Amino acid sequence: MRKAAFLKTALSDFRHAGTLFPSSQKVSDEIGHALNGHRYIVEYGAGDGAVTQQILRHMPPDGKLLALEINDDFSDALDAFGDARLAVKRQDVVHFLNNGAIDLPRVEAVVSGIPLSFLDPTTRAAVIRRTKEILAPGGTFVIYQASPFFFPLMRLHFPNAKMHLSLRNLLPPYFIAVARKD
Ligand SMILES: C[S@@+](CC[C@H](N)C(=O)[O-])C[C@H]1O[C@@H](n2cnc3c(N)ncnc32)[C@H](O)[C@@H]1O
Repeated sequence: MRKAAFLKTALSDFRHAGTLFPSSQKVSDEIGHALNGHRYIVEYGAGDGAVTQQILRHMPPDGKLLALEINDDFSDALDAFGDARLAVKRQDVVHFLNNGAIDLPRVEAVVSGIPLSFLDPTTRAAVIRRTKEILAPGGTFVIYQASPFFFPLMRLHFPNAKMHLSLRNLLPPYFIAVARKD
């Protein structure tokens, strides 16, 4: 999807998009790198696939990436990838965590770009708590957001979480947090 098309889709549903532009290639690569070595990954809020593409680049040929995306236009762009390792679910992450089938042998990593600050506090806490539950022991959880607001909550459930500000994405700069489930 071209940047102008992303902007149009994002403006039509800003509450979910939370940003006007896709993640830059540099920040997507940084996130993909953090997931290096994992075979079964779930992505929350894949958009038109900027981060998805980099995850797939780092993923082994027998890996599987389950990409959840609530917006139909973005989901169409993800379907067009045509990568056999990628399964696109047009689903709300909250619904998926409550009722969805996780069609993976196990969840080794989760990466989330959904705008957590737009969720009500109970739902936000449930997303992080449920993510810990679905992750396999030793699994990795990566969150990238325009605001660091989510971090204390993440730390509550993942005490070893570490966060930094990445200027590899300028519009907006992203706070990237990485945690491991003990
Ligand atoms: C900040 S954008 C990130 C897009 C893409 N991952 C990137 O880095 O360019 C957030 C994405 O999450 C999606 N999203 C927001 N809330 C969601 C939800 N509850 N369930 C599924 N997708 C959601 C939006 O439609 C949007 O594509």
